[in-house]
Amino acid sequence: MGNKISIGLLGLGVVGSGVIKLIENHQEKLVHQLGADVQVKSVLVRNLDKQRDVDLDRTFLTTNPDDVLNDPEIDLIIEVMGGIDEAREYILKAFSAKKHVVTANKDLVALHGPELQKAARKNKCDFYYEASVAGGIPILRGITEGLSSDRIRKVMGIVNGTTNYILTKMDQEGLSYEVALKQAQELGFAEADPTSDVEGLDAARKMAILARLSFSMDVDLEDVEVKGISDISLDDLKYASQLGYTMKLIGYADFRDRQLEVNVQPTMLAKNHPLASVSDEYNAVYVYGDAVGETMFYGPGAGSLPTATAITSDVVSVIKNMLLGVTGSQYVDPHFNKELKESDKCFGQFYVRLHVKDEVGVFSRISALFNELNISFKRILQNPIIKHEKAEIIVVTHQTSLENFQTALNHLNDLDAVMETKSYYKVEGDAEK
Ligand code: HSE
Repeated sequence: MGNKISIGLLGLGVVGSGVIKLIENHQEKLVHQLGADVQVKSVLVRNLDKQRDVDLDRTFLTTNPDDVLNDPEIDLIIEVMGGIDEAREYILKAFSAKKHVVTANKDLVALHGPELQKAARKNKCDFYYEASVAGGIPILRGITEGLSSDRIRKVMGIVNGTTNYILTKMDQEGLSYEVALKQAQELGFAEADPTSDVEGLDAARKMAILARLSFSMDVDLEDVEVKGISDISLDDLKYASQLGYTMKLIGYADFRDRQLEVNVQPTMLAKNHPLASVSDEYNAVYVYGDAVGETMFYGPGAGSLPTATAITSDVVSVIKNMLLGVTGSQYVDPHFNKELKESDKCFGQFYVRLHVKDEVGVFSRISALFNELNISFKRILQNPIIKHEKAEIIVVTHQTSLENFQTALNHLNDLDAVMETKSYYKVEGDAEK
C-alpha cells in the first residue's frame, strides 16, 4: 500500500465538496494520525461542466463509474451521490473489487444495510456509514465503540433538523406550520418536497440504523412505526407548554426482554428532559444504558462540513484497519433475532385533547371509561368554549399500555358526550409544573 491512500468519490454535491475541502484542509492532521498521504484520485459526477463549490482540477472528474470502481490504485470509495438503486449497485461492485466503502446514504443503509454489510464482510472490506445518522454527531461510534461494553436499553433521538426547526419556530415564535416550513425551505434545511422530513420517514430511516446497532438485530425500515408533524396545531403546542412540556419529533427505540419497540412520533417532552432544550435545526440522540445511565450526543445533523467530518472520520478508521490488516470486521453480526413488542408491552404516558358537550356528567363518563381500563389521570385541564356550547378537555395519563390507551380512544369516540378527539400524543418524562 505504500504511504499513499487513493480515494474515489461517487458524487460531488454539497457533502462531496465538503469532503474534498476537509481532506485538503486537514491533510497535516491526517498524515500525522495515519502516517499516510490521503488523496482523492477521481470523482464521479453527472455533469463535467457544472459550477462547483470546490476548486478541483477537471482531470479528476469522470462521468464513467468504472473509472472509479475499476481503478486498481483506488483503495476506498466514498459514496455521496445519494439515491438507492445505482448507489447500491456501485457499492456492491466496489466490494467485489475489494475496495472499502464509506457512505452518507441513510436511505440506502436503512433499506439495504444488512445486505451491504454481508457483501463487505465476504470480501473482507470495511463498510462505514457514520454520516448516515445525525450528520456531524459521532453517534454510531458512540454506540458501537464508546458504549460497546454496556447494555443499551433505550435510544431517543431528535434526528431530523427540518422538523425540529419547524416545531421550534411554532413553539417559540407562534409561527404557523406553513410559515415555519417555508422558512426552513428558504434557509435550505427542508427540501422543495419536504414530505420525507415532515412525515417522519427521514427520521424513521435513521432510527432503523440506530436500533440495529444499539440492540444488535436486523431491524427493517418497515418495523419503524411513523407519524409526522404536519397536523400538529398551535393549540397543542400552547397546551403542552402550559402543562410543562415541549413538542418534539422523537425517534424512540426501547429494548427489553429481548423485544423491541421502535417508532417516530411527535412527543410531548417534559421541559426538564435532556432532549427538550434541543432547538432549531440541531439534532441530539439520548442513549440510556444499564451501566452508564443517561447520555446525550448533540450537534449539527446536516451541512457540508459537519457531514464531511463524519465521512472523513470513517475514512480514517478504514485506513487504520487497512494498515493493521483487520478490515471487514468493524460491526459485529446481529446477536438477537428480531422480536417486536405487541401494543400490550409498549408503555407510555399519553396526552389527549377532546371537544365534549358542555353538560352535566360528561367528565364522570370519561373518567369511568379510563377507570375501567385502569388508566390513571396525571393532569386534567378544562376550558369552556362558550360560543359553541362545548368544552375542551385535556388529559395527560400516567403510564399505561399502548393497547389500553388505544382502546380508550376507540371507546371515547363512542361516547355520546364526546364530539371530537382533536389530538393525542405520547408524553415523556415528568413535567415540574
Ligand atoms: N433532511 C435531513 C434533516 C437532513 O432535515 O435533518 C439530512 O439527513
